[in-house]
Amino acid sequence: MAKGLAFVALSLIIGVLQSANAEVPAIFVLGDSTVDVGTNNYLPDSNITANFPHNGVDFPFQRATGRFSNGLNTADFLAKYFGFKRSPVSFLSLNGTLAIKKRKFRGVNFASAGSGLLDITGQTSTQKANVVPMGEQVYQFSMVYNDLVASKGTSEAQNFLAKSLIFISVGSNDIVGNHYSKNPIPKEQVIPNLAVVYEKHLRNLISFGARKFGIISVPPVGCCPSQRVSANGECLKELNDQAEAFFSTMDTLMRNLSYENKDIKYSLGNAFNITKPIIDNPQNSSFTDVKNACCGNGTLPCTPLASLCSNRHKYLFWDMFHPTQDASRLVASILFIGDSRFATPINSSQLAEA
Ligand SMILES: *[C@@H]1O[C@H](CO)[C@@H](O)[C@H](O)[C@H]1NC(C)=O
Ligand SMILES: *[C@@H]1O[C@H](CO)[C@@H](O)[C@H](O)[C@H]1NC(C)=O
Ligand SMILES: *[C@@H]1O[C@H](CO)[C@@H](O)[C@H](O)[C@H]1NC(C)=O
Ligand SMILES: *[C@@H]1O[C@H](CO)[C@@H](O)[C@H](O)[C@H]1NC(C)=O
Ligand SMILES: *[C@@H]1O[C@H](CO)[C@@H](O)[C@H](O)[C@H]1NC(C)=O
Ligand SMILES: *[C@@H]1O[C@H](CO)[C@@H](O)[C@H](O)[C@H]1NC(C)=O
Ligand SMILES: *[C@@H]1O[C@H](CO)[C@@H](O)[C@H](O)[C@H]1NC(C)=O
Repeated sequence: MAKGLAFVALSLIIGVLQSANAEVPAIFVLGDSTVDVGTNNYLPDSNITANFPHNGVDFPFQRATGRFSNGLNTADFLAKYFGFKRSPVSFLSLNGTLAIKKRKFRGVNFASAGSGLLDITGQTSTQKANVVPMGEQVYQFSMVYNDLVASKGTSEAQNFLAKSLIFISVGSNDIVGNHYSKNPIPKEQVIPNLAVVYEKHLRNLISFGARKFGIISVPPVGCCPSQRVSANGECLKELNDQAEAFFSTMDTLMRNLSYENKDIKYSLGNAFNITKPIIDNPQNSSFTDVKNACCGNGTLPCTPLASLCSNRHKYLFWDMFHPTQDASRLVASILFIGDSRFATPINSSQLAEA
């Protein structure tokens, strides 16, 4: 990202925030660790968690909430730009008490670290829930729908959901998981297969009244510290190619879906195009280290014992897979107000009014 653009972006956001001031009744978040706010804390058998330091070192009161970040993540910043304090809480943290009857029900977050579009992604056995797969997250959304219908009636519930924003950030774990699988799907089939499953999930969400989608495509996963280890410090090209192919396929899929269903509005964020220029030309950004993890390294996860970098603002990567709070803020700001290289056919700020 050019320094100029990032700078303009931040000053523009202030203006947009003052004018737009979200007519969005609620935000629902689905996906993986890029937008998870602590779902896996509630899965007793999960080994993909982050509710311990150094995670959260820049969160208020240094709380390790389960976010894979030193502070907030992309879902939090997007929610902030729509006038929320941060992302809504994890669905599982509510214990089934959705609090919909309360005056201010403003959405929930279903995202689960390690999960993917496929049911098998991130699972370690058939007996234990290591992650909440996308199919299960969509099922949980249907439970919210049922609660809304019970408390507001069908037409008001559908109206509420139609105006709400659905943010989805998923796909990376399917792509990476298949790459390292002992029994991988052939390369050329990976993305078409994922698209079929993504379409099924989207159609289910639509059947429960969802209409406004903020879809975040796969970032250049081949460049995260964990992948550089297996490519002599370079980015793993095969994974990045799949990330780009994922975007193109989603572009067609969303065009098709919205052509068929005219009241669907969406913003497809190009996480690859937002992040890759920063990695290629860090001198144009506020980051000086775009290769290494701030906490731990490419093979060592972020734990209380891992080394912690001294200036977290200088790092693109928080741990072996995830962006720092600063990187998440930058990505969210570009999703919110970026031009068509970064979000298509409209950006997230336009989605509220669409
Ligand atoms: C980023 O920096 C490079 C080298 O300093 C420069 O050639 C290029 O034009 C810059 N890119 C952008 C998008 O500003
Ligand atoms: C979780 O457990 C599985 C199965 O034992 C193992 O393969 C995987 O590496 C573990 N993941 C983490 C993040 O510890
Ligand atoms: C959910 O249940 C757990 C265990 O019963 C309890 O510790 C927790 O406080 C409950 N959370 C909420 C939001 O009620
Ligand atoms: C989009 O629609 C075209 C025409 O019906 C179809 O050939 C194509 O496979 C669809 N692509 C996706 C990704 O849904
Ligand atoms: C990560 O740190 C450990 C412990 O210091 C070291 O053994 C390992 O080689 C490092 N890995 C990478 C990829 O730097
Ligand atoms: C993105 O959002 C901003 C603010 O709403 C808007 O002014 C701009 O035109 C949008 N850009 C594109 C390319 O849609
Ligand atoms: C991604 O960015 C490049 C460089 O700015 C641009 O040429 C390309 O069209 C963008 N891709 C999409 C799908 O917008």
